[in-house]
Amino acid sequence: MKIKSDCKFSLKHFFYFCFMIKRIFTSVTILLFVAAIAEAQSTDKNAYYSIVPKPVSLVEESGFFKMDANIRILAPDGLKPTAELLKEELSFPDKKDTRPGIIRFEWKKNDHGLGKEGYRLLIASHEIRIISATKEGAIHGMFTLLQLQQIQPDEYSIPCLKITDQPRFQYRGFMLDVSRHFFPVSFVEKLINLMAFYKLNNLHLHLTDGAGWRIQIPKYPLLTSVAAWRPNETLQQWWAGDRRYCHEGDPDAYGGYYTASQIKGMVKYAAARGINIVPEIEMPAHSEEVLAVYPQLSCSGKPYEDASFCIGNDSTFTFLEDVLTEVMKLFPSKYIHIGGDEASMRSWASNPLNQALMKREGFIQVDQLQSYLVKKIEKFLTAHGRKLIGWDEILKGGLAPEATVMSWRGEAGGIAAARMGHDVIMTPGEYCYFDHYQSDPNTQPPGIGGYIPLRKVYSYDPVPEDSLTQTEKRHIAGVQANLWTEWVPTTEHAEYMIFPRLLALSEIAWTPLKEKDFDDFHRRMQDQYRLLQRHFVNYYRPSYRIHIKAMPDYQKKEYLIHFNTEQYNPVIHYTTDGSVPNLQSPVYAQPFYVSGITTIKATIFKNDQAMDSPAVYVADYDEAIGKKVAYNNGGWSSSYPAQRDSTLTNGIDGSLTYQDGQWQGFLHNMDVTIDMDSVISLNNLSIRFMQLIGPGVYMPDSVSVFLSDDNNTFIEAGTVKNDVSPKDPHLLFKTFFINLKGNEARYIRVKAYIQRGYMFTDEIRVN
Ligand code: ACM
Repeated sequence: MKIKSDCKFSLKHFFYFCFMIKRIFTSVTILLFVAAIAEAQSTDKNAYYSIVPKPVSLVEESGFFKMDANIRILAPDGLKPTAELLKEELSFPDKKDTRPGIIRFEWKKNDHGLGKEGYRLLIASHEIRIISATKEGAIHGMFTLLQLQQIQPDEYSIPCLKITDQPRFQYRGFMLDVSRHFFPVSFVEKLINLMAFYKLNNLHLHLTDGAGWRIQIPKYPLLTSVAAWRPNETLQQWWAGDRRYCHEGDPDAYGGYYTASQIKGMVKYAAARGINIVPEIEMPAHSEEVLAVYPQLSCSGKPYEDASFCIGNDSTFTFLEDVLTEVMKLFPSKYIHIGGDEASMRSWASNPLNQALMKREGFIQVDQLQSYLVKKIEKFLTAHGRKLIGWDEILKGGLAPEATVMSWRGEAGGIAAARMGHDVIMTPGEYCYFDHYQSDPNTQPPGIGGYIPLRKVYSYDPVPEDSLTQTEKRHIAGVQANLWTEWVPTTEHAEYMIFPRLLALSEIAWTPLKEKDFDDFHRRMQDQYRLLQRHFVNYYRPSYRIHIKAMPDYQKKEYLIHFNTEQYNPVIHYTTDGSVPNLQSPVYAQPFYVSGITTIKATIFKNDQAMDSPAVYVADYDEAIGKKVAYNNGGWSSSYPAQRDSTLTNGIDGSLTYQDGQWQGFLHNMDVTIDMDSVISLNNLSIRFMQLIGPGVYMPDSVSVFLSDDNNTFIEAGTVKNDVSPKDPHLLFKTFFINLKGNEARYIRVKAYIQRGYMFTDEIRVN
């Protein structure tokens, strides 16, 4: 049977068929292409480039390097251990690809553009290249890669990019005080690893102090069997008691020390991560623990009497050189830190050995003994190929010829040393002391005082722009933050104080000044919190509190209101009528003016929920703003002048710290007269004070106000007594109000009677 086909497949049909196939093909190709672009775009949204410290140059590229179980890591001689470390630290999926990518370390020893520590990191979809002229550069490139992996939402997809990078400063340091409280090797190594992620290259260990000696020195066994132990864990209890040491193994012994093998282990662990450990052995002071067990090295010759070594006693130098010999055996660091700070020279002058030494050397002042010690120790260290570094007090009595200075009492010591041609590490207390509070002290665990939030650390520039010539500036070798641990008893607490502020330090130490931008840093921090969580770091979580800042506009006679918070791009609703802000209240977009007496309330909302009770501020552009103030009995303390004679009537409130340039300090009664320019009717006067008993800041006993029309005859108009307990350990503010209703006057005299310590006030307001 023949089947007749009715399919008439003509040539015309054939061409039509081909045409359709081609169209379908083209459409599919276009569709695939569009889908690929869409996917690239959508995955690019998942690419995070928020590196800290910000690299010198970062070019984002499209695509991802996919991690794979079979990835090969290749390295030339000299970088094989670094490649091994990278392999240990990278995260790999189980999946195995038939065409796995390659990570390649490469030397480029003649690439002078990279400097001593620079690197290039080139991430393409099939290959990652880490190019450097030195091992340090390779390690930095490796940690940038690890950081990138650990901030991605998908850790197995690393975005393609090109980075060229090198540091601003050669010394990027962090100091941990392991004497006041002792921290185990595991914690020190965790810290070292995190420092490496943020390209800090010097861990300074404050190994010895009155609270405990922390390094094994075989020749002097009492240092570790007794001087490393005390019967109280918290330093405050011990300090308030008889400050005795006990014995290793006693049931109540708190303390510890690092053995030689533990130190070698930490040094090796750090070196693999590009970090040097700078050991500090305190001298001549902060040495109560040594002199308790080896009293023959003190001026009194008795235990528990002295804090400083006796300089005129030759055995002091035998001891110190023996200790330093052991220290140099364990630590390859070029820098050896010899402390030198806060030396009490009280016991020195009356000691016959010191007197004989002073006579022999022709010294006139006792502080020359400190300089004698530092110079002699420097000679010893130099002879062993090391470099002496010390706190800025080593400038006293003449600096040793090669010494490097760590400037902690502000920048003055650093500036003086740089002018003399010495290298300097800047670590001023106002910016770099991580034992200071990082948020409102009333929300924080007890601490030593101060107020150094993340933003303040970031604002620091280690090069004092106007004080040094270009040549002198080259002596600023770097910057360091310090964690003193008087108030920091645990590793969790230490992490809380160090992070996230260490990331701000890292960026000011590494990134070029022209790239400094807090808002951009703050944005990148949001991704870095992922990395800190991954490493189980107990970092301080940013608060939802709002600080309402009111800046007077002297022309408009109004206040400009700003809201500051620790949150990144928060949604703030606010009111100016005293009501509680809700989702219908205006959203804060920029600073705004208010006039008259205005109550401002503001709250951060997240997912439509209020995150805290409202912050409240009453703005009142009062009558005293801009008026002249005369100081009747000697004025302010020279340490806390604030804005000098404009402070009390400039209309600007002080913040949470008396170091902010708005709080004026007094060490005696305050007695000031405000000239209101003409006789005016009065309602009331207010004056605000602060109390923080830790550093010795107290409320006044009372405040009195006197009125006059001629600045000659004054009549008392009112007195208010203080009712704040001088024992309350919290940061407290109190505004003293004096009712002046029915009075008229041109001159207003305000007296605040000091109670004890310092008295700080920021503003007098008159209505
Ligand atoms: C120091 O803070 N005493 C260096």
